[in-house]
Amino acid sequence: MKPANGAAIYIRRVGLNRIDDLLALEESSFPTDRINRRNLRNLLRSESACCMGAYADGNLIGSLILLFRAGTRSARIYSLAVAEAVRGRGVGRKLMVRAEREARKRGSIKMNLEVRADNIPAMRLYEKLGFEKTAILPGYYEDGSPANKYRKEIGHYHE
Ligand SMILES: CC(C)(COP(=O)(O)OP(=O)(O)OC[C@H]1O[C@@H](n2cnc3c(N)ncnc32)[C@H](O)[C@@H]1OP(=O)(O)O)[C@@H](O)C(=O)NCCC(=O)NCCS
Repeated sequence: MKPANGAAIYIRRVGLNRIDDLLALEESSFPTDRINRRNLRNLLRSESACCMGAYADGNLIGSLILLFRAGTRSARIYSLAVAEAVRGRGVGRKLMVRAEREARKRGSIKMNLEVRADNIPAMRLYEKLGFEKTAILPGYYEDGSPANKYRKEIGHYHE
């Protein structure tokens, strides 16, 4: 899958050096509940977070943050964002597939996430990838909007 200008898309870990690009993506993708610079810096340094970026021609066009918590084998998708100009071209799916692989490698057997209950594109993506809605969380977001909770069993790691 390629963006409009034909450049190939690569998924890689994102480093602290791309924090400004990550923040710009967050800002253009989420109306509320954005990650601030301080929290993002902590996540980029944390052993229990895996921050992945989608790159085309060296530009960051998508990002995904995956969180791990000691004592559980459940990984959490904390954030997923794709630049508006390249949405609908498979970047979000690619990031999710890579995140699932990372989660399995780190011993997770489940993935979970929350999504705004009116976010149709994101819910379609998750459902297509085999996530199931497990709960509705009223008043979950800063503006009082509800979230849908999704979960996927991802099995054990084999390579
Ligand atoms: C949700 C988001 C990450 C999807 O990324 P994307 O790169 O556009 O998605 P993809 O092109 O990989 O689409 C994969 C599947 O998602 C679904 N999908 C994506 N965009 C959709 C849309 N506008 N309407 C309906 N379904 C859509 C489709 O099922 C699609 O599969 P298909 O192409 O076989 O039909 C992107 O729209 C985004 O960044 N939105 C703003 C931030 C956000 O909402 N993040 C999720 C927070 S939980």
